[in-house]
Amino acid sequence: MLIPLDTTSARPLYLQIAEFLTALAVSGQLRAGDRLPSTRQLAEQLGVHRSTAVTAYEELLARGVIVAQQGSGTYVAAGLSVTQTAAPRDVAPVNVSRDALLSEMWRLNQQADLVSLALGIPGDDLIPLDLFERRRQTVLRRDGERGWSYLPPEGHERLRAAIARDLARHGLQVDGEDVIVTNGAQEALALIARALAQPGDPVLSEAPSFFTPLLNWEHAGLHIHGVPLGPHGLALAAVDARGTLGGHPRLMLVTPDHHNPTGLCWPAEARHAFLKWAAERALTVVEDATYRDLRLEGPELPPLAALDREVLYVGAFSKSLIPGIRVGFVVARGPLREQLITLKQLTTGSGESYGQRALAEFLLADDYAPHLERVTRLYRQRRDALLEALLPTLPDGTRWRTPQGGFYVWLELPPEIDANAIFRRALERGLVLFPASPFYPASTPPANALRLCFARYPEPVLAQAARRVF
Ligand SMILES: Cc1ncc(COP(=O)(O)O)c(C=O)c1O
Repeated sequence: MLIPLDTTSARPLYLQIAEFLTALAVSGQLRAGDRLPSTRQLAEQLGVHRSTAVTAYEELLARGVIVAQQGSGTYVAAGLSVTQTAAPRDVAPVNVSRDALLSEMWRLNQQADLVSLALGIPGDDLIPLDLFERRRQTVLRRDGERGWSYLPPEGHERLRAAIARDLARHGLQVDGEDVIVTNGAQEALALIARALAQPGDPVLSEAPSFFTPLLNWEHAGLHIHGVPLGPHGLALAAVDARGTLGGHPRLMLVTPDHHNPTGLCWPAEARHAFLKWAAERALTVVEDATYRDLRLEGPELPPLAALDREVLYVGAFSKSLIPGIRVGFVVARGPLREQLITLKQLTTGSGESYGQRALAEFLLADDYAPHLERVTRLYRQRRDALLEALLPTLPDGTRWRTPQGGFYVWLELPPEIDANAIFRRALERGLVLFPASPFYPASTPPANALRLCFARYPEPVLAQAARRVF
């Protein structure tokens, strides 16, 4: 077994070994049940001390990547490979391998010596630290100890009103009462599915799509049917052509603005056509507007919820302002609003109180618009720097588009180039990319694609990283 080890790196050798073997198992180069060399053999092959090999295996055992069988040896654990497909069951299968890949992405994200273009994280340098802290100090002085108490599950009243006021920018007429503050947009999407669908129900989503709701909904037993994305939006005819979906789909999740992962922004006609199509099929539409405020160029088009009040609008401040503040929200009315508040109460209950209070003041003081102006200018520069360095290196036949907003460049590779192999090779070079599989529902074959986030680093780092992808 050949594992490239960097003896000059600050990263301990045992971790380098464990990470390399994890990447092989996740990418399918090592298969479930494959036998690994003994620690003595491995130490000899790699020219490292035996204790290094022992510690590497201990790390892999702790991560669940390998299993030890007394007296017989050490084997690769089941359920890790991204190329593996789950067996059909009554309720939708949970694809363990995509879960494992996500955990691996978060783990790699903690490593200071890697450049990660994988996760969608705003640049640290774009967090408005001083200004936000000033707003927080204002509320600390005003609210004191009382401000640390629980908030109602639907969120801080002043923040809900401030969000409703801010949504008028998008042509949305919203009452603060109808805004439910959640722990990021992620929680809003989980609660909506829980409120509207039962295990076994069919639901629709774009394919590809943001992975967390896909995996969350699959874990909840929903059958997700992926609707392919064409160059201008959803290929709706593909759903109709599929005929029965095993019942009437309860809802459909869409991201018309700066889609994750493709960067697609639906033209105005596509928005109208989609709403007509959804209304004819009595579908509840869930609009994920997480990236809406991060428009880098192009016309501002109305959100679906401004064209149809029945659409459930989900937003967040995680990408456009501060990820760790964990403020997302959903606009819902009537009995669904009550149901969502009840579910929120039964899951996370109160949100973090001073973050919500400070955000309310930030919005009400009109700090958000200048902040967005600044970050979108810088993100535009970052996007351009990444593309400029990347484009000359792209293999012939790669499909990509310049995103008009959001955080991502999506590369669809020609079939003879394996995205998982590119991911592994980049990792050896200290670069983390996101291969495609988690972005597809289990029922859809994943494309041979990679996602690159351009938001996190300044231009020189991005340009250097982009030249190392291929
Ligand atoms: C499309 C989309 N929706 C929702 C979220 C979740 O955001 P939050 O951090 O607010 O939970 C993300 C995060 O990557 C996303 O890309």
